[in-house]
Amino acid sequence: QATSIPADRVPDMGKRKLMNLLLLGAISLPSAGMLIPYATFFAPPGTGSAGGGIVAKDALGNDVIADEWLKTHGPGDRTLTQGLKGDPTYLVVENDKTLATYGINAVCTHLGCVVPWNAAENKFICPCHGSQYNNQGRVVRGPAPLSLALAHADIDDGKVLFVPWVETDFRTGEDPWWA
Ligand code: FES
Repeated sequence: QATSIPADRVPDMGKRKLMNLLLLGAISLPSAGMLIPYATFFAPPGTGSAGGGIVAKDALGNDVIADEWLKTHGPGDRTLTQGLKGDPTYLVVENDKTLATYGINAVCTHLGCVVPWNAAENKFICPCHGSQYNNQGRVVRGPAPLSLALAHADIDDGKVLFVPWVETDFRTGEDPWWA
């Protein structure tokens, strides 16, 4: 009788195990959340795909140098570059001759055609089924169901760096559908 575990201890041990699990969960959940800004903070910028950013490439495949770009692209210009995941992405020149801090993903949210910029209409107009987007890529006419995706366009070491846009879509006030 002395070698067997007393029956009244068993529930206790089960309870302790459960408490340990709960404690572990309480500790590990917040630290998983804290790892994200921690990792972002220490990811060196300008190292290509590290940290989720990528240097914009022009039509010839060269890195886009912000100053050089602005010499040949005037106010209101929207020109395609290669962005995140290789997606065609518009670099936008603001009216004050600076680069916009966002790039516009040119892939139509209807069936994926690349949407050209129509300067005369001040819109992006999809040739495939006629969807239209305003000059910031917000959908204004279907059948496209959603606005064009955004990316941050940062300047890092003189080069344009696209970084995933995970914040609120400033055009709609909604969560980004693409993140
Ligand atoms: Fe653009 Fe259909 S793919 S409207």
